[in-house]
Amino acid sequence: MPLSGLSVAVFDAYGTLFDLGRLLDCVRPTLGEDATRLGELWRRKQLEYSWLRSLMGRHADFWHVTGESLDFAMKSLGIRDPSLRSRLMEAYLTPTAFPEALAALTKIRDSGLRMAILSNGSPSMLISAAKSAKLDTLLDALLSVESVGIFKPHPSVYRLVEQRFACRPEQVAFMSSNSWDVAGAAAFGFRTVWINRQGQPLEALPASPLRELPDLSPLPALLAG
Ligand code: LAC
Repeated sequence: MPLSGLSVAVFDAYGTLFDLGRLLDCVRPTLGEDATRLGELWRRKQLEYSWLRSLMGRHADFWHVTGESLDFAMKSLGIRDPSLRSRLMEAYLTPTAFPEALAALTKIRDSGLRMAILSNGSPSMLISAAKSAKLDTLLDALLSVESVGIFKPHPSVYRLVEQRFACRPEQVAFMSSNSWDVAGAAAFGFRTVWINRQGQPLEALPASPLRELPDLSPLPALLAG
């Protein structure tokens, strides 16, 4: 059954709209199988550092955290190559969207919902990524945690949507491929859809998603209520 009474569709960025696997393409010829290991460790550390900095009260923007986590991941795998590091950081600014994202977002926009990204990414990262992935013209807002200086899943991050769109949490559909992000958004009161691209088990955290989809293709029909 479609969700009704919505006014805004909000998307997580990295891994939900932007394909993180493809970022590693530029180093696969050099690294071979290590590229996938590097990508996984980089992402895991990027998230851990975001949570740890939030707990420590030592915020730095996501660009900085992304660089530090890449340094750790490269060191762990014994990769010492400054040009490879530069290429990967550059790739973060120019990601591609998942193949179904453009068509799905176009249909959602045409149905009359407003749309936004809500991301850990810094404003300049999000502007660059949305343009590179050709989603920029579809989105009403690129909301960054930099406005509040703490990372997801802190409630003040989700509150940015309420403030920007002057809406109540239950009027917001929030989509993320990260189960922990969905938990944070659901705990805040958003109606959440877990885009479970990798068929992962649900994180054992308070607050569950309302729906689970394998990718964004079925989303327009779900939000059409
Ligand atoms: C983001 C990360 C968590 O875009 O994927 O906020």
